[in-house]
Amino acid sequence: PLTGVLPTPPLTVGYLDYCNQTQADTMSQVDQAVALGLKDAGWKYIGIDDCWTTKTRDAGGNLVTDPVKYPRGMKWLADYVHSKGMKLASYLDAGTSTCQGYPGSRGHWQQDMKLLASYGIDYVKIDYCAGYSDPAQVRGDYQGAYTAMLNSGRRMAISISAPAYAGAGSSAFNAEMSWVGDLGNTWRVGGDVAADFSSWLQEYDITRNLAGYAAPGRFNDPDRLIITEGKSAKTTPVEWRSQMSVWAATAAPMYVGGDLRDSLPQTDGEVATLKNTDVLAVDEDPLASQGRVVSTQGDVDVISKPLANGDRALVFFNKGTGSASASVSSTTAGFPAGGTYAVKDLWSKNTSTSGGTFSSGAIPGHGAVMWRVTPRQNIRAGGTELTGAESG
Ligand code: GLA
Repeated sequence: PLTGVLPTPPLTVGYLDYCNQTQADTMSQVDQAVALGLKDAGWKYIGIDDCWTTKTRDAGGNLVTDPVKYPRGMKWLADYVHSKGMKLASYLDAGTSTCQGYPGSRGHWQQDMKLLASYGIDYVKIDYCAGYSDPAQVRGDYQGAYTAMLNSGRRMAISISAPAYAGAGSSAFNAEMSWVGDLGNTWRVGGDVAADFSSWLQEYDITRNLAGYAAPGRFNDPDRLIITEGKSAKTTPVEWRSQMSVWAATAAPMYVGGDLRDSLPQTDGEVATLKNTDVLAVDEDPLASQGRVVSTQGDVDVISKPLANGDRALVFFNKGTGSASASVSSTTAGFPAGGTYAVKDLWSKNTSTSGGTFSSGAIPGHGAVMWRVTPRQNIRAGGTELTGAESG
């Protein structure tokens, strides 16, 4: 695929009520992302999902941007997003119609990709809501999309939804996993995350087995973060942090859908949580390697992710409801034998030194402990970490 358009997982600010999303909503998401410091923390994309077109194509077969929702048009909006230093993601469907009944792109790839390119779109999610059939058809549709993107005159990143529709573990899923990385940059591995723990746990359980498919420009997508999902959310700050920890450790795209004008994201720590640049740096690490589960102890999975400068991110993820803990040796975590390590807790910001055994301490139910572990040879006399170039 085009690795350079998306070398690390995308961080996207979308809109929860996507099918009613308007120009004004999109602009306020951009403005709020800038004003609240999310852009400076690394959130780069603004997402538009289903329902941005009219219900039918024009006489020439072209998609038409809904003139009521987007009165100034999509090119104008993309220019606005770009003027704020962010990028714009859009949405198409590979089959015959979108999930909300808007036109699909089968048979229209050249003109649809040219249209998005003319708008200045940077990233295209390609869903597969209707007309999903045999594997050859599915692959052909995404091949058409990819080729049309290459011919569109604009390098756009591509998100593929097909594996989510095949269903993890099915033979169609496995067949699709063999080509998604050639035709797209990210691919959905499961259904839509609902705002509860069990829903995103399922996505994690699929993703953790797919580490071999991830690489720069190629990422498993376990769908959105539950943080910011409305005022009635049945989720807790412990779970928000643990989902972000697990998504970062698995090099997953992060997508938040809340309305940033709401007071909730600004008053109860959600924005501060999303601005944890230590955690985001693990997700955005240039090695772009997906962490692997190196040990499972009771309800706790220990995920170890290699980082470009020789450090590792370690996440102790407690899937159970009660408090739990785990420990692993440095060799199990993936380091050479022996040595001592500087450990930084990326949520509490506490630092400590460790020998050959890493112990999480008590992790609350559904919680995670997330560390960045630096081998001692990666630390200068003054205690600051060497850069990747220095340590390499
Ligand atoms: C599907 C996708 C979602 C969203 C909706 C839009 O359910 O999985 O992410 O795009 O369609 O209708």
